[in-house]
Amino acid sequence: MSENWTHIPIMANQIADLLLLNPDGVYIDGTLGLGGHTRLFLSRLSPKARIFGFDKDEDALRMAQARVADKRLYPVHASYTQAPEVLRKAGIDKADGALFDLGLSSYQLDNPARGFSLLQNGPLDMRFDLSATLTAADIVNTWPLDRLEYILKEYGEERQANKIALAIMKARKEAAITTTQALKQIVESVVPRYGKKHPATQTFQALRIACNDELNTVQAALNTLEQLIRPGGRAAILTFHSLEDRLVKNHFKALAQNGNWILVNKHALSPAYDEIRQNRRARSAKLRVIERKK
Ligand SMILES: C[S@@+](CC[C@H](N)C(=O)[O-])C[C@H]1O[C@@H](n2cnc3c(N)ncnc32)[C@H](O)[C@@H]1O
Repeated sequence: MSENWTHIPIMANQIADLLLLNPDGVYIDGTLGLGGHTRLFLSRLSPKARIFGFDKDEDALRMAQARVADKRLYPVHASYTQAPEVLRKAGIDKADGALFDLGLSSYQLDNPARGFSLLQNGPLDMRFDLSATLTAADIVNTWPLDRLEYILKEYGEERQANKIALAIMKARKEAAITTTQALKQIVESVVPRYGKKHPATQTFQALRIACNDELNTVQAALNTLEQLIRPGGRAAILTFHSLEDRLVKNHFKALAQNGNWILVNKHALSPAYDEIRQNRRARSAKLRVIERKK
């Protein structure tokens, strides 16, 4: 496997400024990816600090460990929803801060073998965790029409959900849909292209979310914040589409209303124009940060 993949960490300095209040602290990087945020964080923390870096993707973990090359990083192959349990097992009650940089890394998107890319042909996979059993191909080839239509509508916010779901059902009767290009062509055959966005973009988003149960996982992680963050600590969440941002916004609002938490930024922060110019993938990013008061 090539090790030359890149992923530019998004809003990294801003996040470090907002999150790293205790230089000797214990931090969670819930989505270690290629370790971009963690590497910067460690450069700002003391020799006593520790970062528990979670990723479901073992390839990413291995690359991050090699790139970060720092004993203060503890890589964990598990979902970020397991963070409170992992801390407890390490004899730590709560963390000083946690970052969740949701979605997929450029490594995953750019690697055709992972099946996330619309632009390159590859197996229709889309699993973050290659030891998980459900692939995107399983979904398109076995799920019933109503379920396909539901995920396209709910996770892809796709207006043509019914048309696309019917086209998938028809195509799979003739031959199993096993590649990203096959799926792309099925969508293209029923939805015309408008503007710059490819007509299958929302279908790919929906499948990725369904395959990794992303929204339920994000909600589960939000539900762990009370167990995870100590008073005075913070959680920062970077989202890349409105479905995730809505979950974070609503949950943070509810936490702030219970009186134990306070919103660090009232509205979501976005990357500066210069960052978006240098890294197109930053364009849809939204950052929300919350602090635990007591
Ligand atoms: C946007 S990337 C993170 C990039 C990272 N911040 C960096 O600077 O390199 C998101 C990562 O989260 C991982 N991921 C997605 N869902 C996860 C989950 N539930 N638990 C742990 N990792 C997850 C993906 O495998 C991916 O590597």
